[in-house]
Amino acid sequence: MIDTELVKCCVERLKSYPCEGFLLGGGNSKADLLFVGEAPGRDELTTQKPFTGKAGASLNEYLSELALTRDDIYVTSTVRSRPYKHDDKSKLKPIKQRANRTPTQKEVLAHAPLLDETIAIMKPKVIVTLGAIALKRLTGNELSLKNVHGQAFCTQLLKLPSLEANRLERIGEKHVLFPTFHPAAVFYNPSLKRVIRMDMLALKELLTFQGVYQPNMR
Ligand code: URA
Repeated sequence: MIDTELVKCCVERLKSYPCEGFLLGGGNSKADLLFVGEAPGRDELTTQKPFTGKAGASLNEYLSELALTRDDIYVTSTVRSRPYKHDDKSKLKPIKQRANRTPTQKEVLAHAPLLDETIAIMKPKVIVTLGAIALKRLTGNELSLKNVHGQAFCTQLLKLPSLEANRLERIGEKHVLFPTFHPAAVFYNPSLKRVIRMDMLALKELLTFQGVYQPNMR
């Protein structure tokens, strides 16, 4: 789906950062619905499939609320490698347990061309951002997830203007975005389960309206 030269280039761009492995995405690349997460974890690097660990089981619950399967969507992440916690003195030396870590803005920028290209090729009818990192990557720092989750809006996306650029600009195509919480968020805050269920009800309505979801087919 994505040009192998661009993949190689982005793998190279991330090389000096404490990240490991690579996973482009998974599911149906012809789908109208794109889900964007944060970064793969250890399970995903092993299976080479996005959201296959504990967070994957939680994402499957979102999909069953929507009466959709993984074949109905494409799933990828903001950063396509796994950022790990590292020794402060030596950036590339992992600390003992190599725990997962939220990607930094530099890491997000290093892999930005991959998400830009995914969106350009797929032209999804709806982009579901999972968590704050994906929301900020595509819209900037102005929106707070807790205020906008569960609400669709059409917006011009942030995009990296060139491989040399060091900041994202609002020069992408206009797309319909639907922000919700990252599937792993319920592990830290179980009360979000109810909130996410409401978000999925709103998303189901949106997908019906957009012609993505056809209830009569199921
Ligand atoms: N979190 C993500 O954002 N992506 C995965 O594939 C797994 C966990």
